[in-house]
Amino acid sequence: MRKKIAAANWKMNLTLQQGEQLLTDILLKPHDLKAHQQALFAVPFPYLPMAVNKLAGKNNVFVAAQNCSNKKSGAYTGEVSVEILQSVGIEYVVLGHSERREYFNESNQLLAEKLDICLANNMKPIFCCGEPLAIREANTQNEFVAKQLAESLYHLSAAQLQEIVIAYEPIWAIGTGKTATSAQAQEIHAFIRAELAAKYGAAIADSISILYGGSVKASNAVELFSQPDVDGGLVGGASLIVDEFVAIINALP
Ligand code: 13P
Repeated sequence: MRKKIAAANWKMNLTLQQGEQLLTDILLKPHDLKAHQQALFAVPFPYLPMAVNKLAGKNNVFVAAQNCSNKKSGAYTGEVSVEILQSVGIEYVVLGHSERREYFNESNQLLAEKLDICLANNMKPIFCCGEPLAIREANTQNEFVAKQLAESLYHLSAAQLQEIVIAYEPIWAIGTGKTATSAQAQEIHAFIRAELAAKYGAAIADSISILYGGSVKASNAVELFSQPDVDGGLVGGASLIVDEFVAIINALP
């Protein structure tokens, strides 16, 4: 069975103290993660050791970075490498979030390089894709997402691809309160899986978790996650609210 994942993306929010309190409060609430379910917290770089310590020994709960460098090491001031992340116990990294693509000019090619350095070093990427509003309005989202997948992923081997989690996040639904309908999410998730199947075969495509992101909240998580090709969510705003995120974890099928 594919992994079902509730992933929190704190983005550039919370102080260290607030973040620690949030994790404390979430851990106090009952959630019973089954073997095929995971909760994941993508926190700001300086909070990674705190989160790793806090969540140590918790089954199926992981900490992720929100980005990493495409370079191994060296004179890249302000950057954080895969090796640095691993030295503080990190196994997952979010790559290619639309905010990084938009504000920090991350291209499909750069993301291909970041994927390569992660996969060469056993760091598991959560690779984000998704279209802006104008593309959705022109109804060309499938072509847009297919290009993102092709240019960043298709040089990978099947074994490498299987290490990746994909997050589909339509930019028009991020932080806007406007969620894709469960039918819209299912349609494009099925498209993404079909594209992967055409390139890598159905068995590989079926094994890859595809998360939905964009205004996921407690009130829509069950409906979204009940779609056959939606394997959980990458959650921004609602992941900062204890009861919301706990409910989203508990909405995993
Ligand atoms: P929101 O849940 O705040 O819309 O953010 C989604 C997102 O970008 C998660 O990475």
